[in-house]
Amino acid sequence: MFSAKAKVCGVIGNPVGHSMSPTLHRYISEQMGEDLAYVPLGVKEDLESAVKGAFALGFTGMNVTIPYKQEVMHYLEEIDDTAKGIGAVNTLVRMDKGFKGYNTDLGGLSLSLKDNAIEIRDKKVIILGAGGAAKAVLYMVCQDGASEVHIFNRNVDKANALVEEMAKKTDFSMPIYVDDIAILSQKDRIQHLLRDRYIVFQTSSVGMYPNVSDCLNLDEAFYDRVDAGVDIIYTPLETVFLSKLRQRGVKTLNGLEMLINQGILAWELWTGRKVSEEIKKGAKEEIISFLGLK
Ligand code: ATR
Repeated sequence: MFSAKAKVCGVIGNPVGHSMSPTLHRYISEQMGEDLAYVPLGVKEDLESAVKGAFALGFTGMNVTIPYKQEVMHYLEEIDDTAKGIGAVNTLVRMDKGFKGYNTDLGGLSLSLKDNAIEIRDKKVIILGAGGAAKAVLYMVCQDGASEVHIFNRNVDKANALVEEMAKKTDFSMPIYVDDIAILSQKDRIQHLLRDRYIVFQTSSVGMYPNVSDCLNLDEAFYDRVDAGVDIIYTPLETVFLSKLRQRGVKTLNGLEMLINQGILAWELWTGRKVSEEIKKGAKEEIISFLGLK
């Protein structure tokens, strides 16, 4: 429970009715003995008034979720460089005159890789998909020193636009290649194009609940090229994509830790405290049970 002196935080989005964030932040605050309240704030329209109103009401911080991660950037006092680079903000921290925006989705992903000993530096990376999640992954792997990046997408123009947008905002120098994902269903083309082993990020929604038996159309030869596989999906905890990799003895990581780590990083920004590994583990169990995951 929290007192009348509690720090107040919340999540702005539309809808927020299924958000796991209130459960996560209640659990962490209780375990850490922090006087912090965290509330769901469904905002149907007028995001500007919502953000300014939260500041006037004395909120310590906020999470921002779909559909407002880009729009919220117009209503902030300051924006962290990484969040500017990705062009999306998911966490607000109270400053003197307004909120500062951060992107802990990216930090959460980076932390999950570190926790699972998946090293990006000097490694070749493949990104499957070119939506919002792919954008954060692309920025992160470039920031973490990948030696080469391949993006495969159905819509090649969309993937090229992603690369161009990032090139405008950053000065990363590794080669970034874009190709049609249809190539990855053809054994000879895979063998011709991909001669090394790669860390692969599955960023599309293919295989997500309820379509849990779906998987991107990837030839078996593709799986042989994978050094470690990451799927941003967490419903189910193991997608068909990850299951195929695990059966080959490849290291795999699902989206759940990223989800939890982005929340923990936000909590740490609001409180200036560090969440212990033990509490992180407990939080993971709490969220698995909250989401009814297996
Ligand atoms: P998010 O913002 O959460 O990443 P998104 O913008 O809908 O979600 O992006 C989903 C990605 O998955 C897109 O790159 C999409 O490919 P297109 O850009 O070609 O539409 C990709 N995707 C979705 N369904 C797919 C499918 N059946 N086969 C291949 N790619 C698919």
